[in-house]
Amino acid sequence: MAQSQPDPATVVAPSAAVTAAPASPTPPPNSQALPTPLPSGHETLEIDHDEHDDDVDSALGDDQLTLSTASLASSIRNYTYENGRRYHAYRSGEYILPNDEKEQERMDLKHHIFTLILGGRSFVAPVGPNPQRILDVGTGTGIWAMEVADAYPGADVLGTDLSPIQPAWVPPNLSFVIDDAESEWSYSPNKLFDLIHWRMLFTAIKDWPRLYEQAYKNLKPGGWLEVHEHESDINSDDDSVLKAQDLKDWFKLVAEACAKFGKDSNIAHKQKQWMIDAGFVDVQEDVYKVPIGRWPKDKLQKEIGLYFQVQTLDGLEPVSMALFTRVLGLSKEQVDVMLVGPRKAVKNPECHLYLRFYVVRGRKPESD
Ligand SMILES: C[S@@+](CC[C@H](N)C(=O)[O-])C[C@H]1O[C@@H](n2cnc3c(N)ncnc32)[C@H](O)[C@@H]1O
Repeated sequence: MAQSQPDPATVVAPSAAVTAAPASPTPPPNSQALPTPLPSGHETLEIDHDEHDDDVDSALGDDQLTLSTASLASSIRNYTYENGRRYHAYRSGEYILPNDEKEQERMDLKHHIFTLILGGRSFVAPVGPNPQRILDVGTGTGIWAMEVADAYPGADVLGTDLSPIQPAWVPPNLSFVIDDAESEWSYSPNKLFDLIHWRMLFTAIKDWPRLYEQAYKNLKPGGWLEVHEHESDINSDDDSVLKAQDLKDWFKLVAEACAKFGKDSNIAHKQKQWMIDAGFVDVQEDVYKVPIGRWPKDKLQKEIGLYFQVQTLDGLEPVSMALFTRVLGLSKEQVDVMLVGPRKAVKNPECHLYLRFYVVRGRKPESD
């Protein structure tokens, strides 16, 4: 089915802004008006009918991040190995995705996708040119925190995670701490943050409203919280999603297993309300359709679609393995077989699939 070309003027427009954020007096490096190539959640993505995807496998090289272990107690490196993957040791069993090098590559590829979606920016909240303290919760490989520390050399940037998988050589204004974001945060009241960020924590958190409350409590008055997540389901603007039923069923099973595990895998659309409920003001939500595959006509959407296809293919096994074996009691072999259909759907050039990415930010009122 032919799709209409989105009006370029609406491509950058937020789909559901609640209130306009105040303009920053001097725009920080991240807030340059770079175009995002993706239509908002209400626009259609135009299909390239000449595009035919060949088999796509991980296009990533073998470059790896160095483990930063020097200052960390051995117990947090006492990793668990299961079905060929490595899992975190601190709060063992709480997070269902691996922390091995393969998974780190996937995190960094997703970082690249988010950066392309945001037109080269790390975040969009108008924090001003001189933030002093920035926190990245669930920092993973620390790639976002490193970029932000480089962009704001005057700011102290802190990244927290359950896994000590961050590199040793980082900008001098950046540090990493092993910490459970669901524990009580113990930051000093006179060292509150100007910006708190988290990204891709779906499947990780049990008590989301509490996380938002802790972020609120630990921000300076006027400070910003910005969160980036994508939905855990597929859609298409034509009826080609019907050809991807195996993948749709897989997302459904992930949601069921996550729920059994006490976590909600489909939270992207809930963040705005959680932010408002926690007391944030000027809450803005941008929604972008991110294609899976090279099927869009637009060149940059095609590039993003290829990366997202690769990361989706690479993500099926790590997202499923611990979840389906530990929570649903399946064997590794059963999981492997179960992934054949979803993998085919991801590679099927006739499926014009996308996921919605949500970029949400809100400000702690000055008066608080
Ligand atoms: C999908 S990765 C995303 C990493 C990073 N935010 C990014 O966007 O590149 C999720 C990360 O959250 C971490 N994580 C999961 N549960 C956590 C918790 N309760 N506290 C802190 N970090 C957690 C995991 O160890 C993992 O590194």
